[in-house]
Amino acid sequence: MFITFEGPEGCGKSTHSKRLKSYLEGKNLRVLLTFEPGGTQVGKEIRTLLLKPESVLDETTEVYLFAADRSEHVSKIILPALGEGKIVISDRFIDSTLAYQIGGRRLPEDLVRYLNMVSSKGLVPDLTFLLDVTPETGLKRATQHGSADRFEREALDFHRRVRDSYQRIAKDNPDRVRIINTEDRPIEDIQNQLRQVIDEKL
Ligand code: TYD
Repeated sequence: MFITFEGPEGCGKSTHSKRLKSYLEGKNLRVLLTFEPGGTQVGKEIRTLLLKPESVLDETTEVYLFAADRSEHVSKIILPALGEGKIVISDRFIDSTLAYQIGGRRLPEDLVRYLNMVSSKGLVPDLTFLLDVTPETGLKRATQHGSADRFEREALDFHRRVRDSYQRIAKDNPDRVRIINTEDRPIEDIQNQLRQVIDEKL
């Protein structure tokens, strides 16, 4: 089973993906938790290029770098782990590219969808948690422990388009994508909802 966590800045993906991993391991399931961008050796360097504020990237270059990171990630980490029968959880995957590069950057949809298809080798998650939060709350959370990265420095309007784009993805994929509100709820409450969804799916 392949599960992804998606959402705008500061939506709580890392906290909840880690907790969900522990929960599943508590059921004696084998789980690999990974992330994009940067889940591979080469990906680490690509991640630095993408996130450091000093990088001045053409928007097309940016989407190619995300695609390159994903090609490595899918072929070297995700597919082998799925092949070994593990549950794979990825913090960000194809929907991030749709939301950020089409919604946020306004790149042509056909280009981004094509790159997604090639870089993911056609792999589509079985289940996607879309953790939803307003950009105001999310950016505050995301930047409270350190300086803002290249994306976190984008204007509020960019982040609004990303969030709207995610909502559209959820609407278009109701069987795969579950929207989870993380705006003003206790972490335990959110985690319990995720566990319920997973238990149903298992
Ligand atoms: P991430 O490490 O998840 O940052 P955070 O946990 O702070 O949200 O992701 C890094 C950034 O990369 C994030 O701002 C979203 C962006 N991104 C894209 O724009 N396109 C993509 O395809 C992916 C995977 C991430």
